[in-house]
Amino acid sequence: GEANAQYVVSLIRSIPDFPKHGILFRDFMPVLSDPRANHLLNEALIKALPVQPDEFDTIAGLEARGFLIGPPMAELTGKGFVAVRKAGKLPPDTYAEDYSLEYGSASIEIERNAIHKGERILLVDDLIATGGSALAARRLIEQAGGIVVGCSFVMELNGLHGREALGLDAISSLMTMP
Ligand code: PRP
Ligand code: HPA
Repeated sequence: GEANAQYVVSLIRSIPDFPKHGILFRDFMPVLSDPRANHLLNEALIKALPVQPDEFDTIAGLEARGFLIGPPMAELTGKGFVAVRKAGKLPPDTYAEDYSLEYGSASIEIERNAIHKGERILLVDDLIATGGSALAARRLIEQAGGIVVGCSFVMELNGLHGREALGLDAISSLMTMP
């Protein structure tokens, strides 16, 4: 209920001017290190799924923090997990996409054989800010032949138009913050 949600929210840490001046960095790691909050988080992510478990085949998570929420969600929904990694980490062959971040730019990759044609993917990450990372991951998955049918986030930052950038109807986030 509301008390449980408040408990999880209370563990999110906010760090001003990290990793750059003017960025208020939202850190959900303390939620994972607390056994009760960690359990409540997984439960809430499943409850908030933007599509039903029978509407997706596989969960894809973004490095690094999408790797922390994706595998438990995959286990709880009986799906497999696929990693979307920062460039240069995966052995060949890969597909790649470049993108810009709230605080920089980067390139991500996925293994060529990780996704089959028409596979329905739920994309997950800790946070959506500008949506640049999730959009790049969506493009990458689509380049690999998959279809992103929904996205799950723990947090959504206000005023950065991440949802619009991502251009999907089926997006869920557990909390919205400035
Ligand atoms: C953060 C966060 C998201 C992304 C959100 O990761 O975990 O993946 O930025 O920002 P956006 O919506 O503006 O793209 P970051 O790139 O800092 O990488 P890390 O998890 O490897 O530290
Ligand atoms: N926290 C974590 N990741 C992020 C943030 C943040 O506040 N902004 C952009 N990526």
